[in-house]
Amino acid sequence: MLKAGLIGIGFMGRGHLDIYIQMEKEGYPVELVAICDIDEDKFEGKFLPGNLNVGMADYDFSKYNLYTDIDEMLEKEDLDYVDIALPTYLHAEATVKALNKGLHVLCEKPMALNPQECQAMIDAAEKNDRKLMIGQCLRFWPEYEYLKRCVDSKEYGNVVSAYFFRGGTTPKWSYENWLLTKEKSGGVLLDQHVHDVDMINWLFGTPKKVTTVGRNVFPGSGYDAVSTNYIYDNMVVNAQDDWTINNDDFGFTMTFRVNFEKGTLIYEDGKLTVYPHGGKSFVPELEEGSGYYREIKYFTKAIMDDTPIQVADAYSTKETIRIAKAEEESADRQGEFIEL
Ligand SMILES: NC(=O)c1ccc[n+]([C@@H]2O[C@H](COP(=O)([O-])OP(=O)(O)OC[C@H]3O[C@@H](n4cnc5c(N)ncnc54)[C@H](O)[C@@H]3O)[C@@H](O)[C@H]2O)c1
Repeated sequence: MLKAGLIGIGFMGRGHLDIYIQMEKEGYPVELVAICDIDEDKFEGKFLPGNLNVGMADYDFSKYNLYTDIDEMLEKEDLDYVDIALPTYLHAEATVKALNKGLHVLCEKPMALNPQECQAMIDAAEKNDRKLMIGQCLRFWPEYEYLKRCVDSKEYGNVVSAYFFRGGTTPKWSYENWLLTKEKSGGVLLDQHVHDVDMINWLFGTPKKVTTVGRNVFPGSGYDAVSTNYIYDNMVVNAQDDWTINNDDFGFTMTFRVNFEKGTLIYEDGKLTVYPHGGKSFVPELEEGSGYYREIKYFTKAIMDDTPIQVADAYSTKETIRIAKAEEESADRQGEFIEL
């Protein structure tokens, strides 16, 4: 039985908490024993809603050892791994601490604020011979996994063009408003758009160059809307993100349209449809479970079986941050091409 500690139970941490509760019900051999959050109110169930429906209405926190200090939790608990759902500016520091204590680490995306911090995390994992995985959950998301299989197998030929969009209501729920503080989150580019950057990196590898335009709306938040063209030899690739929809009724959406030589995949409104060119469209059968659930299972299984983290390995997720930072530089220079 693996013993886990969860650090941060804000919007995303609660999503993870639900998965531990579900896995326990399923008899999966992982036990969440400790939770740490600096904000004690969270242990009384005082949460702000995010842009997705994560988190149950009520939690029984009495069954966990509760901490408000990360060091104290790492000192007192005998854990196998920690699951870090802290604000991004704390990812590197908390990850390195836990790895140096001999724990494996699953850390939420984005890996960190810059490639240097990512490298420090990788160095600590290697020095301590521990597993490090970043929660780039789209790599475990059934619709995106299906897309990846089509790209790799060339079932519909090569990719001709690809478009990705994600966007949601303005994130106003975060701890001390860190999400709308550029130095802490990297703005929409590093926080939300990074999912599509990571997908493009995973599907197609590093582009030759990027050109990005961005727009700031909220004071001090960095870019709140971005659009990037990724330059590859034979593909037209673009991704956009926008969190300026300042209306809580909207929620969140993510979309892709990928045209292959012999077919098109379209994912929108939560439904993936395949359009073989000249054939009949169909909705493919997909794996069960959310990307969050599947990523936690993958990570814990890799610990139990002592197998390498291959799907979201830390070097690849660091490359995602390098690409995202190049996009930021391009946006800062009004769309100038940045070579990678
Ligand atoms: N994979 C996804 O789809 C997804 C979605 C949303 C957020 N995220 C990521 O999850 C992470 C958390 O985002 P969020 O939206 O949950 O933010 P949040 O502000 O809602 O939650 C952060 C939590 O960390 C706690 N915290 C802050 N400083 C702390 C400290 N020093 N010690 C202990 N606890 C501390 C806060 O009290 C809060 O409960 C971010 O990296 C974000 O990018 C991922």
